[in-house]
Amino acid sequence: MNDRTPNTETPILEGEDLRKTYRLGRVKVPVLHGASVSIKQGEWVAILGASGSGKSTLLHLLAGLDKPDIDSGDIRYRGSKVELQNGGETNHYRNRTIGFVFQFYHLLPELDVLENGMLANLVPRGRKSGLLILVMALIGAVIGAWLGLLAAGDWGLLPLEERTSVRSIVLSGACAVIGSGTMIVLIQMVQAVILRTRMRSGEAADVARSTLGDFGLDQRYRHRPRELSGGERQRVAIARALGSDPDLLLADEPTGNLDEQTGTEILELLKKKHEQGLTIVMVTHDPKVASYANRVVRLKNGRVVADSVQNSVVGEMPSPDEGHETVG
Ligand SMILES: Nc1ncnc2c1ncn2[C@@H]1O[C@H](COP(=O)(O)OP(=O)(O)OP(=O)(O)O)[C@@H](O)[C@H]1O
Ligand SMILES: [Mg+2]
Repeated sequence: MNDRTPNTETPILEGEDLRKTYRLGRVKVPVLHGASVSIKQGEWVAILGASGSGKSTLLHLLAGLDKPDIDSGDIRYRGSKVELQNGGETNHYRNRTIGFVFQFYHLLPELDVLENGMLANLVPRGRKSGLLILVMALIGAVIGAWLGLLAAGDWGLLPLEERTSVRSIVLSGACAVIGSGTMIVLIQMVQAVILRTRMRSGEAADVARSTLGDFGLDQRYRHRPRELSGGERQRVAIARALGSDPDLLLADEPTGNLDEQTGTEILELLKKKHEQGLTIVMVTHDPKVASYANRVVRLKNGRVVADSVQNSVVGEMPSPDEGHETVG
């Protein structure tokens, strides 16, 4: 279990002076202009703003899913800077520390509910998997090159006078490429079989069953996402995000695509998890949804314009001019 002992001293997650400009060819789209937010353990914070104000961008930066601009400030987790260059650590941060709920579910259509629910616990830990593939590719290349030389020489593929020529080197090089490619395909097939086996049994499946059960999906394990309603898909997405027992949940418009009643059901589920100690950062454009949170951070044109502990902000709609500007 992750440590959920309230610690009021150090914030669990901080984004300081975050800047982000998207570049589409020569067009620059400045979205975040130095947004800062600090989340304490046990809080439920809503980031509220109009469409285009940069809410998803901010949440993606906080989750390490995207990088801020070079001249930007830092993201700190429990006081330590999150280094987004380091593959293994970044993967751990994304997969284990943070549970992320995407604006549009992002369930894998070819996996069923149980398999989707297990994903966070099964994602390979970055570096090790990459290193294994690299080593196997090298072994494949050496075997391929050796077979190529054998074919050119001992097996008589090339005439005697050409066995030490450029043609034999080219043949052996081609065999090396084929060998390393074959090895990569083989290792991926083996990894897929291992993944399936781990999915069907073991701890990941138990954890996923338990979380999906909490979300009322125990009768739907074998269903594919296309066979679920929007509310059910969102519940799978949240259960998946919680599957690795993360320290905090970042949810991007968790009720954005749902009708009011289904949205309320999802918020009540989040409320239950929050009462059990989960820290939540939730993005929304809807003040009614934000009213579930303990604190509301208002984003306007990529800047934080208000940050308040709240009882309720229901009824206060963000004004339509809170979007971003575009610079040609
Ligand atoms: N990958 C991208 N490439 C280029 N521009 C982008 C990209 N992602 C977002 N933007 C731009 O940044 C602006 C802010 O996007 P963002 O998704 O953060 O807004 P948002 O507040 O989450 O909006 P919504 O409520 O509609 O989801 C968008 O209007 C868009 O023009
Ligand atoms: Mg968004």
